[in-house]
Amino acid sequence: MKITRLLWAGALVAGLVPLSAMAGNVAAGKEKSAVCAACHGQTGQSVSPDFPNLGGQHEDYLYRVLLDYKAGHRKNPIMAAQVENLSKADMADLAAYFAAQSGLFVKR
Ligand code: HEC
Repeated sequence: MKITRLLWAGALVAGLVPLSAMAGNVAAGKEKSAVCAACHGQTGQSVSPDFPNLGGQHEDYLYRVLLDYKAGHRKNPIMAAQVENLSKADMADLAAYFAAQSGLFVKR
C-alpha cells in the first residue's frame, strides 16, 4: 500500500516537472509587458491590424514563438529586436500573462 502511494506520487511529480519548468508568472509577465503594449496592446488586443493579438493565445505557443524569434527560426526584424534581451524566464512570464488575458475583442 505504502509503496503504491510512493510510486504514484513519484509519477505525478515526474509528470509535473517539465510543465513547471516553463510555467511563467502572470504578475511578473504583466510588468514586463509594458514595452509590448505599444504594439500588442496592454491586454494583448493589438493597437492595429499590423500587429497580432496575443490575448488568449496558448501559453506554450506564445513561449515557443518567442524562443523561435530569439533563435532566428522565425524571422521578423521587429520582434527579433524585442526578444533580444529577454531571458527564457522573461519569455515564460510574458507568455503566461498574455495567455491569461481574454482572446475576445473588447471595445476600448
Ligand atoms: C514595435 C511593435 C512591436 C512591439 C513593441 C512588440 N511586438 Fe510582438 N509582434 C510585432 C509584429 C509586427 C509581429 C508579427 C511578426 C511576424 O509576422 O512574425 C509580432 C508578433 C509577435 C508574436 C507572435 C504572435 C503570433 O500569433 O504568432 C508574439 C508572441 C509577440 N509578438 C510577442 C511580443 C512581446 C512579448 C513583446 C514585448 C516584449 C512584443 N511582442 C513587442 C510587433 C511588436
